[in-house]
Amino acid sequence: MQSAYKDFFPIGAAIAVEKNGFDSFEQYPDRLLGEFGSLVAENCMKPGEIHPEEDTFAWEGADRIAAYAREHGMLFRGHTLVWHNQTASWMFSKDGSLSARKKFSRAKLKAHIEAVVGRYAKDVYCWDVVNEAVKDNGDARKWKSNYRESSPWFAAYGNATYIRDAFEFSRKADPDAKLFYNDYGLCDPAKRARVVAMIKELDLKKHGLDGIGIQGHWNLSWPTVSAIEETIQTFHDLGLEVQITELDVDCYNSALPNAQQYGQFEDALARRYAEIFACFRKNAGKITGVTFWGVADDHTWLEHFFGNKWHPDKTRKTYPLLFDEKHGKKKAYEGVVEFGTR
Ligand code: XIL
Repeated sequence: MQSAYKDFFPIGAAIAVEKNGFDSFEQYPDRLLGEFGSLVAENCMKPGEIHPEEDTFAWEGADRIAAYAREHGMLFRGHTLVWHNQTASWMFSKDGSLSARKKFSRAKLKAHIEAVVGRYAKDVYCWDVVNEAVKDNGDARKWKSNYRESSPWFAAYGNATYIRDAFEFSRKADPDAKLFYNDYGLCDPAKRARVVAMIKELDLKKHGLDGIGIQGHWNLSWPTVSAIEETIQTFHDLGLEVQITELDVDCYNSALPNAQQYGQFEDALARRYAEIFACFRKNAGKITGVTFWGVADDHTWLEHFFGNKWHPDKTRKTYPLLFDEKHGKKKAYEGVVEFGTR
């Protein structure tokens, strides 16, 4: 697949290293991983995973991915340095005034970024520095700000300037890395506007921001191709790089009876991926990467996490990726790579 896209953009995949009951990426043959030109860790580089205690680092998983990427000439994206989930409690203090708690967390943030970004400076070319820091939709009248105020980072600082700090610390730790803000739901104009407001309010380009990661957790009908295109254009117009990150197309349909069969979705998924990638190719000059959130349908977070909740047992089928549970190419794969012949 990557060879078909060599003149467009790198195509990547998120991979796991035996966490949360998932298998590790080494289960996939080189032939399958070789379809991609870039890798990102699905979990093992999140703060709570890679830096669980102040003096404890769990480098092993990320080191394995870095080594694989190096050996196979692949790019390596870093995900993620600051998030409200999968973070580490040692970075926050309950004691003292707000300014004391902010000082405490700011020092931990700096140490975390220096350690992690510093260690992978030769390997990681691009970081999701801050993940999901603005609010979702809801009743705007009740909001104090555009930001996710429930984030421990927002609470520790009392405002959103931790975002600016995270970009500054990252820029210092690796002057050459591309630094991204990454979020979902950006094809929704209201949420996108909040990200645009954040970039301006915090003057993030001056503090190191290079690009926006548009998480592509999409489905068969949402968002429309024109909304995707509009979203790419909005961030491009701000002078930012754009990457599609975390792409998966959820086929689950709650209206269909119990057992969902892949055959019910095969053609619709192929058409959907074909239209999405046609849009990406058309906008290739504005896009510097497209990353799937997974490799094959045997391993997808969508079957564990839905309705905003974690479900330990797989209770639904979603068929979101280009390779099936046995690692075979789906029709959707053809829809992505056969553009030259159609
Ligand atoms: C998900 C992983 O896929 C799961 O294994 C984990 O349990 C929770 O996080 N947005 C992100 C990703 O930025 O880090 C999330 O990954 C999916 C949503």
